[in-house]
Amino acid sequence: LFAGGTDFLKGVVAMDGLPPSDRAEVCFAGRSNVGKSSLINALTGRKGLARASNTPGRTQEINFFTLGESHYLVDLPGYGYANAPLPVVEKWQRLLKQYLSGRANLRRAFVLIDARHGVKAVDQEILTLLDKSAVTFQMVLTKTDKVKEKDRARILTQVREALAKHPAAYPEIVLTSSEKGDGIPTLRAIVASLA
Ligand code: GTP
Ligand code: MG
Repeated sequence: LFAGGTDFLKGVVAMDGLPPSDRAEVCFAGRSNVGKSSLINALTGRKGLARASNTPGRTQEINFFTLGESHYLVDLPGYGYANAPLPVVEKWQRLLKQYLSGRANLRRAFVLIDARHGVKAVDQEILTLLDKSAVTFQMVLTKTDKVKEKDRARILTQVREALAKHPAAYPEIVLTSSEKGDGIPTLRAIVASLA
């Protein structure tokens, strides 16, 4: 699907560090620990790729990966960190706003939601920011291997209700488990379709 493999390109801390907008781009957002790096590793088939760039002190960076010849994958720093200092949070929010509203080649944001927890208040903030930035976003439920079949419907209903409030939402929800591989081919096909 993506000839040419995948690689870590760079970590970016300011708008002037962004790579040129010469490829279709998708970004991955979500609460800290939701499974962003694991999902990127599963998607690219390269264990340790996203984690390798996750060295301490670089956690506020926007990490760029090349996917084949055609796409950039972007790992956004996790939000909702209870004990992050306010100036760090504010700097990060400024950069995120600039990135989301100014990136011409950004085709879609994938917002990751832990399938056990559903959409939280802190997720709603990012969804509102995506609306304002006019970036189409799609929900990806993570860690579905940890949810019992009988609890799935309830969580899906909660996520659908949250989506209904957001004009930038893409209706289809993707259910994934990076651990088991569920939903990964589907997500890969979605990314490939966003040329
Ligand atoms: P930050 O970079 O700190 O924001 O975290 P992250 O969103 O990148 O999460 P990460 O991929 O590091 O995963 C966090 C934890 O969840 C790790 O212990 C993973 O092994 C676990 N995890 C991720 N995906 C899955 C999954 O599909 N199933 C299960 N059972 N565990 C998962
Ligand atoms: Mg990570």
